[in-house]
Amino acid sequence: MNDKAPTIDGVGSLLVAKDTVGVAADWARKSTFQAALKVMPKHRQRIVRSRLNPRWYRWAHAANGAHWAEMGERQLKFLIEAGLEPSNQFLDVGCGPLRAGVHLVRYLDVGHYCGMDLDPAFLASARKELEMAGLDHKDPTLLLDDSFRFKRFERQFDFALAQSVFTHVSFNTITRCVSQMETSLKPGGKFFATFTRNPGPRLRHDSFVVGGNLRNCDRDPFYYDADIFRWLVEGSTLDVELIGYWGHPKDQEMLMFTKR
Ligand SMILES: C[S@@+](CC[C@H](N)C(=O)[O-])C[C@H]1O[C@@H](n2cnc3c(N)ncnc32)[C@H](O)[C@@H]1O
Repeated sequence: MNDKAPTIDGVGSLLVAKDTVGVAADWARKSTFQAALKVMPKHRQRIVRSRLNPRWYRWAHAANGAHWAEMGERQLKFLIEAGLEPSNQFLDVGCGPLRAGVHLVRYLDVGHYCGMDLDPAFLASARKELEMAGLDHKDPTLLLDDSFRFKRFERQFDFALAQSVFTHVSFNTITRCVSQMETSLKPGGKFFATFTRNPGPRLRHDSFVVGGNLRNCDRDPFYYDADIFRWLVEGSTLDVELIGYWGHPKDQEMLMFTKR
């Protein structure tokens, strides 16, 4: 043994042990807290989290485990590469607290950003994010709505995006969203939406593990086969194309609906 190596004396050992107990107790406290939160309805979870940290959504589930800034910027970059221009009318479906919205409001001309969400707490946070970013003068329109009534914006859109929304809703809700979108897009307008692919088989009786989490096709987060979206637009004025992977950290794939 190298006699110059540092040694831990008796007091040192006690300090290390005390530290270890402290870390274990902290971990147990956090786990108990997380477990208690998980059994609450989602709106209650949000109230508790906002009391502890008004900007909890930046780190927690609305950020979908991904870095707030990175996922916001990624959405803007994707849309610009798809052709979004500042003069376009844009709709953010399930905009949440404006993770992407803040970047989009900054990029778009005054009054050209519209966001819709069913959660009043997220929309309140969205307004705070806009104020903190000094973007109130860009005059975005935010609407609370749980039925995708896009007509309430009183305009037709060039581009729309639903990022991490189809992943949390049933197929019937997706159908409602796409059918409302059909009448709110300009001819040639594009609606992008992300989804997570069902790894198969088509009918799943079992639960399965994704990224260490137990999943079940009957519950949020939902998994879909890409073919179901082709079936969805049959007989409509929309076409759908599977773009696939676009850099989402949890491998959500991108769809593009185009209004003829
Ligand atoms: C995982 S978050 C994604 C938020 C945002 N698109 C982003 O990428 O940061 C899903 C959002 O969809 C919203 N949402 C779910 N169902 C909805 C519905 N039927 N109408 C409007 N918003 C909905 C939720 O409230 C939530 O804000």
